[in-house]
Amino acid sequence: MRWPFLRSKVSAIEQLEESLARLNQAAEFTPTPWSIARRMLELASTGPDDTLYDLGSGDGRIPILAAQEFGCRAVGIERDLELCRYSERRVRELSLETQVQFQCLDFFKADVRPATVVTLYLLRAVNGQLQSRLASHLRPGSRVVALDFEVPGWKPIRKSKVRGEGGMEYTLFLYVRSAPSPHRSQG
Ligand SMILES: C[S@@+](CC[C@H](N)C(=O)[O-])C[C@H]1O[C@@H](n2cnc3c(N)ncnc32)[C@H](O)[C@@H]1O
Repeated sequence: MRWPFLRSKVSAIEQLEESLARLNQAAEFTPTPWSIARRMLELASTGPDDTLYDLGSGDGRIPILAAQEFGCRAVGIERDLELCRYSERRVRELSLETQVQFQCLDFFKADVRPATVVTLYLLRAVNGQLQSRLASHLRPGSRVVALDFEVPGWKPIRKSKVRGEGGMEYTLFLYVRSAPSPHRSQG
């Protein structure tokens, strides 16, 4: 009689460990196709006055594209050292050092206050964990574009379906940080 209980307990622990491991690898490196990265930057109306932050920047393609084609400053935050160093090398090769920087660190510890545009290609649960940091760091009017996975609890002002190379469909969510509402009790 003890076996079924023991089995189900072990399996619950195993399930928990598995889902924690999945969450950890949640945002393994999967590059955004170039055409979709361009659409994300267009959707955010990215321009020369912007500072873009890509949280989990992978091979650095979004910050590099943002600087080259949209003329803005860009910062990529990536915890995988190899990817981060690769991105820095690309920036040097393209002579974009004054416009693009990479920070090889955990985005949960990053200061994203300078950002006016943030791009996310992370799982919904990870977006959820980042939500309060983004809400407290971003100034009113800042835009957040999330690819395929929403930021839970936020209402997108636009949601578009786009097709990438090979006809694969992607969903883009655009959020705009609003000004904090005035404190009612102060009348
Ligand atoms: C799905 S890839 C997206 C890469 C890139 N943004 C793009 O769109 O091409 C997610 C990236 O987030 C990085 N990442 C995951 N968790 C992170 C964390 N806590 N801090 C920094 N980077 C992280 C991964 O190493 C991976 O390169």
